This record gives sequence, structure tokens and C-alpha cells, in this order.
Amino acid sequence: MDEELNKLIESLPILDEGKELLIKKFDELHKKNVIIEFKYNRTLVDKAAITNILNASITEIEKQKQIIENSKNKLNQTLTEVHTQRNLIEEKNKELNKLLDDLRQTQQQLILAEKMASLGELTAGIAHEIQNPLNFVNNFSEVSSDLLDELLVNINSGNYEFVEQDVNDIKQNLIKIAHHGNRADSIVKAMLQHSRIGTGAREVTNINKLTDDYLKLAYHGFRSKDKSFNATLKTNYDKALPRLNIVPQDIGRVILNLISNAFYACTERSMKEEQKTTKGKSSETPYIPTVSVSTKNGSGKIEISVLDNGTSIPNKDLEKIFQPFYTTKPSGQGTGLGLSLSYDIVLAHGGELNVITKEGEGCEFIIRLPSA
Ligand SMILES: Nc1ncnc2c1ncn2[C@@H]1O[C@H](COP(=O)(O)OP(=O)(O)OP(=O)(O)O)[C@@H](O)[C@H]1O
Ligand SMILES: [Mg+2]
Repeated sequence: MDEELNKLIESLPILDEGKELLIKKFDELHKKNVIIEFKYNRTLVDKAAITNILNASITEIEKQKQIIENSKNKLNQTLTEVHTQRNLIEEKNKELNKLLDDLRQTQQQLILAEKMASLGELTAGIAHEIQNPLNFVNNFSEVSSDLLDELLVNINSGNYEFVEQDVNDIKQNLIKIAHHGNRADSIVKAMLQHSRIGTGAREVTNINKLTDDYLKLAYHGFRSKDKSFNATLKTNYDKALPRLNIVPQDIGRVILNLISNAFYACTERSMKEEQKTTKGKSSETPYIPTVSVSTKNGSGKIEISVLDNGTSIPNKDLEKIFQPFYTTKPSGQGTGLGLSLSYDIVLAHGGELNVITKEGEGCEFIIRLPSA
């Protein structure tokens, strides 16, 4: 208690009990006052803290508001862009649909063109192949006609010792004429069959003969386009091959495609080797383009193999070669349908068409057909 207040109470003209009571009351009042003062100060501190927190929150809210505002603007912008993009995509879609229609039409035309082209290729081969037997037929007919004149003269002049000789010669000639006539006949038949691809009926077929016929057609077809083309042809036909029930013109077409591809790959390699030679980089052994065609009787399957030492196919391109329209030929030279059609034809016969390629050495295509 305050010293002055004590003195003041002491000096008051009242009883001691009164003084004590007064001092006690004053003490209580003083304590209450201290508590109130303490609470007041606490409130002031709390108020300042709350004000700070509130201010910070307001700033944060302002910030968030700004961010939301920005996001809203961006969203609107994106929405506008999305709309524009959607319109663009719709337009592109329309264009693409039109392109797709055009492509479908072109594809149909190309398939037709490929059929015509391979027919043309075949026709060129056929023309050459037919020319040969026809020449024989013509020559032997002429010789036979002369022999008949000679025979008549010999009969009329009674030189009977020469008559038998003349008759034998004429007979031999007639056998040769029949042989070459038959050859021309089978070529014409092959051509007719080829023009009916996909519509033909199955026939029990001698695979070795079919393969050899188409090898010759492919060779002369290729030569008719490129007079300088030359390749060593090797054949190895398995004589024990059973006859197969196939559509001969379709399998023939597959063989023709594979051999034509092999010839093309050899020509390409020849040109590359020549370029190396002119640059003085040629390898020691000269390049001899070689195509080997063989047949084999495997277990339950027969195999027709076309092996070449041409440009070969890079491993990375292997999965593409059977796709329709895949070609590495310069534009206008190949449709890229050869292998895809071949694949379909072999598949339709329950067989498979495989390729083995050795980069830089060449490749081998193998047709496997079920033999039973
Ligand atoms: N024997 C091969 N050697 C190297 N590459 C080959 C051989 N056979 C096929 N190819 C590759 O596969 C591609 C596709 O062959 P495919 O027969 O389908 O079409 P194309 O020969 O290019 O055209 P088309 O057959 O219409 O003339 C060829 O362009 C070539 O790149
Ligand atoms: Mg081809």
C-alpha cells in the first residue's frame, strides 16, 4: 500500500478498527485495479495480434483473388482457342474425309493399273516365248515342205532308197512341230489364266512345271524392258514333289512377282557395283547377278524358294514390305502391290510367304503350301 495513503489514514480521527477496515478495502481495491490493468494490457496485445493476422489474411485474399482473376482470363482465352481449334479440326476433318475418298478411288485405280501392268509384263514375256516355238514351227514346216518335194521327185524318178529316209525326216519334223506347237499352246493358256486372277478354279498342278514356266516368262518379260539385263539363273526342282490342288494362275502370279523383284534387286546391285568400279572401289570378286529358283518337299508342306544376291532388304524395312503400296522403286515404276497381293494369294491357299534377308548379300522368299 502507498506510504502517503497510509499516513493519511493514520491521521484520520477515526477508530483503529475503522482505519484497518479502510486499509483492507484499499488493499482489495488496489489488487482489483492491478488485475484490471493486466487484463487491459492483455487485450491490447491480443488486439494488435489479431489486427496483424487480419491484415495478412486480407493481403492473402487479395492475392488469391488476383490469381483467380488471372486463371479466369486464361480459361476464357483457352476456351476461345479451343473453339478456334475445334473449328479448324472440323475443317481438317472434312478435308481428310475428302482426301480419303480420293485415296480410295486412287487405290482402286492403282490396283487396276497393277493388274494391267503385270499383265503387260507377262504379255511381253509371252510374246518372246511364243516367238521361239513359232520360229521352230515355221522352219520345220518349210523344211518339211522341201522334203515332200524331194520325196515326190524321188518317187517319180524311182529312187526308192531315199524315200524311206525322206519319210523319216518328215516324221521327225512333224514331231518337233507338234512339240513346239504344244509349247506355244501352254504359254497362251498361261496368259489366259493370268488375266483371270482371283476368279480361277483350283486345278491339280505340277508345281515344278508351273515354276519353270513363270521363271521363263519373268526373265523374258524383264529382258523386254531392259535389254542389257542378264543374270545367272539356277534351278533345282525336287522331282518327288506331289501335285497340288491350287489356282495355277494365282500361284503363278506370286512366282512371277517374286522373280521380278529378285531381277530388279540384282539390276540395282549391278548398277551400284558398276559405280563402285568407276570410283575404283570395286571388290576383288566381280559381281555376278544370280537368281536361284528351287522346290522342295518338306513335311506336310512344299516349298518354292526364290533366292537372289541383289540389294537385300534392310532388317528395319522387313515388316513393311508386305504392306500394300510400300515400294522403294522410283515413282511410276512400281505400285508396291506385288508382295501384298502375293501374300494374300498364298494365304488364301492355306500357305505362308516368308522372307529371309542377309543385309548386303541378298534375300530369299519362300512360299510354303500345304501338300495335303
Ligand atoms: N528380292 C528383293 N530384294 C530387295 N528388295 C526387295 C525384294 N523384293 C521386294 N523388295 C522390296 O520390297 C518392296 C515391295 O515389293 P513389291 O513387290 O510389293 O512392290 P514393288 O516391286 O516395289 O512394286 P511392283 O511389284 O508393283 O512393281 C520393293 O520396293 C523393295 O524395296
Ligand atoms: Mg514387285
